[in-house]
Amino acid sequence: MIDSHAHLTDKRLRSDLDGVLLRAAEAEVQVIVTVGVGPADNRAVAKLVDQVPVVVGSVGVHPHDAKVVTEDVLAQMVALAAHPRIVAIGETGLDFYRDLSPRDRQEMAFVQQIHLARELSLPLIVHSRDAHERTLAILEREGGGELRGVMHCFSGDMAVAERVLALGMHIGIAGPVTYPKSGKLRQVATHVPLERLLVETDCPYLAPQRYRGKRNEPAYVMYVAEEIARLRGLSFDEVARTTAANAAELFGIDGV
Ligand code: NI
Repeated sequence: MIDSHAHLTDKRLRSDLDGVLLRAAEAEVQVIVTVGVGPADNRAVAKLVDQVPVVVGSVGVHPHDAKVVTEDVLAQMVALAAHPRIVAIGETGLDFYRDLSPRDRQEMAFVQQIHLARELSLPLIVHSRDAHERTLAILEREGGGELRGVMHCFSGDMAVAERVLALGMHIGIAGPVTYPKSGKLRQVATHVPLERLLVETDCPYLAPQRYRGKRNEPAYVMYVAEEIARLRGLSFDEVARTTAANAAELFGIDGV
């Protein structure tokens, strides 16, 4: 399996990293994509990918912190992205639920990171919360028909999923697919072509139902794969293998 979206640099995971990595290995998670959320975090991600062989990384500025994006921050991302184990740009996108940065700043930082991903030929990791219409409109306008990437921790319906697929992007399914009230998300997880699905934890957030409210970690990505297998009437192995191959191809990860 590949956990396609984790935040291993978060102090809740970082403080227990040996245990977290051991349990991930026991759960047959071969690769963890650890995702940067801001300038200081991006540096921590770049350091971690050098220290831990099973970890690859992404550099970006989360919409919560969009107001910190300057030319210098973007230049730092370009420099860090030259590292062969930095495999994506993000997470970026729009969050109109918490609105921690002004919306015009969120949109500007999102467009800048889309352009960066295109210039560097790297996939884009997109966050969209209560902002699907604007997120899709910007991706459609700025993508130039050559975007690759993932709408991570997908929270839309089938209509949103269809537009993400039409952009050529993947859909990342996280722990909420196991929550009782996630009917719409289960529909998406059932009907999207399997070769366009990724599994992820978004840890330390969004633990699956059985650990809900506790700290999430990459080993628990198996509960996401297990739920997708149950929904689609497939074996766990097929979902684990196919989603890992999808992520390996998207992020250009060898040897999986
Ligand atoms: Ni995230």
